Amino acid sequence: MAMLLEMRGISKRFGGTQALDNVHFAVDRGEVVGLLGENGAGKSTLIKILAGVHTRDQGDILMDGRPVAIHNPQDAQRLGVAVIYQELNLTPNQTVAENVFLHRPQRMSKLLGKLGFVDRARRARETQALFEQLGIVGLDPRRKVGELSVAFQQLTEIAKALAFDARLIVMDEPTSALPDEEVEHLFAIIRRLKARGLGVVFVSHRLNEVRAICDRVVVLRDGQNAGGLPIAEASDARLIAMMVGRPIENLYPKRPAQPGAVVLEVEGLTRRGVIEDITFHIRAGEVVGLAGLVGSGRTEVARAIFGADRVDSGTIRLNGRPVHIRSPQDARRLGIGYVPEDRKVQGLVLGMTVRDNTTLTVLRQLARGGQFISWPEVERTAQRYVDELQVRPPRTDLLVGSLSGGNQQKVVLAKWLAANLNVLLLDEPTRGIDVGAKAEIHALIDELAHRGMAILLISSELPEMLAMSDRILVMSEGRLAGQLSRAEATQERVLALASGKR
Ligand SMILES: Nc1ncnc2c1ncn2[C@@H]1O[C@H](COP(=O)(O)OP(=O)(O)OP(=O)(O)O)[C@@H](O)[C@H]1O
Ligand SMILES: [Mg+2]
Repeated sequence: MAMLLEMRGISKRFGGTQALDNVHFAVDRGEVVGLLGENGAGKSTLIKILAGVHTRDQGDILMDGRPVAIHNPQDAQRLGVAVIYQELNLTPNQTVAENVFLHRPQRMSKLLGKLGFVDRARRARETQALFEQLGIVGLDPRRKVGELSVAFQQLTEIAKALAFDARLIVMDEPTSALPDEEVEHLFAIIRRLKARGLGVVFVSHRLNEVRAICDRVVVLRDGQNAGGLPIAEASDARLIAMMVGRPIENLYPKRPAQPGAVVLEVEGLTRRGVIEDITFHIRAGEVVGLAGLVGSGRTEVARAIFGADRVDSGTIRLNGRPVHIRSPQDARRLGIGYVPEDRKVQGLVLGMTVRDNTTLTVLRQLARGGQFISWPEVERTAQRYVDELQVRPPRTDLLVGSLSGGNQQKVVLAKWLAANLNVLLLDEPTRGIDVGAKAEIHALIDELAHRGMAILLISSELPEMLAMSDRILVMSEGRLAGQLSRAEATQERVLALASGKR
């Protein structure tokens, strides 16, 4: 029997970028295929062509061996292709239930009451039923999506894609926003879909996940097929070599810290109902990890320090002096930087160039200091970070919105690295970043610490947290549940503290 999906000789060009060059890709029923490649390799572009978001320049798409026409997202949906995009695609002001049924008019009509308007209670019940079918727990269909953690937003996105009877589910980095326990959850969902005979495409930069869930992988490099393997034959080394074209020696290049004076002191920080009595400090040159389960308050601690959320009580001292941080502007002025977990909303201006995004913060600093701004210097600064972080394409004049997801993340980092900071708060800094660039970012974090910066690191990837942190603070239900030194910290100990066991 013919394959469920076959894409043949797909090419796509964006201006000067050949995003895809004669790419072949196929998925069968009941098969989970991993689509791998470095940031900018063309994974999302291939998926968007399948989804009808982009039109291909060349190539054919076949389903069940027959050519199909996919010119827009409706075509794809009609053919049973459901796509979960890398960038979340939800309407923040609507509820979970409204989002799940957003594009399902046929279902909506069933939900219309006699009076002709939507029966909210019933829709919530249907959403709840869908969640139960998928094994999603703890997500209230009546909550507004904008109030949810990124993990729950991601689950909503998945439920939304599954709300119609898809035959092929494509997930573009579905786990990049999910903590470990939710990843397991998602995998259980994928296994269920697979058992029902659906085809699944899974994009991820995390090789252990690819190993856990995929039957086969296809690797793209610079828009071309770089090879494919059954998962049993795919060692990490082999996959990395295929993706990057060279081996990577050291994923976590951490040097032992030589902590200096205390830079940041947080005492009794409280935002009622969210974080409670948070007290800790970070020394110059230290990387302090902030671990915890989803909803434990890690991001909220970072936001509170950065002045993004109001706090009810608590004091913050910087280099020994009490400071009042009432807004992100205050924080920036004091040399505190924050790389947020949701770059699209908080981190970047997508309609501006890489250069402007990178140097925005520096320019503000210069302008405030009344200094003369040298444009060649601005350009050099931007270019230096583009090179250091291997942003691709390595140009500063492109709009950030046209970059691949991982490359956008690198620009968020560059923006803060270019500023001269005392304290850097990093919330999921390597989310969506490929293995090669990840190693670069780790090296950069290490370098910044060695230059004397105090760094707070939040990461859902425990191996990263354990490898990069000098100390780990563990949160549980809005409180600090404990602290582990680098030597004491193991995955088991962190998890035990995080889940409230001692
Ligand atoms: N709308 C667009 N306009 C211009 N260039 C684009 C556009 N979308 C993608 N590109 C370019 O096409 C190339 C492939 O990007 P794509 O998003 O497919 O990469 P990716 O493999 O998904 O990477 P990542 O792992 O970072 O998500 C990149 O060079 C990117 O900058
Ligand atoms: Mg992508």
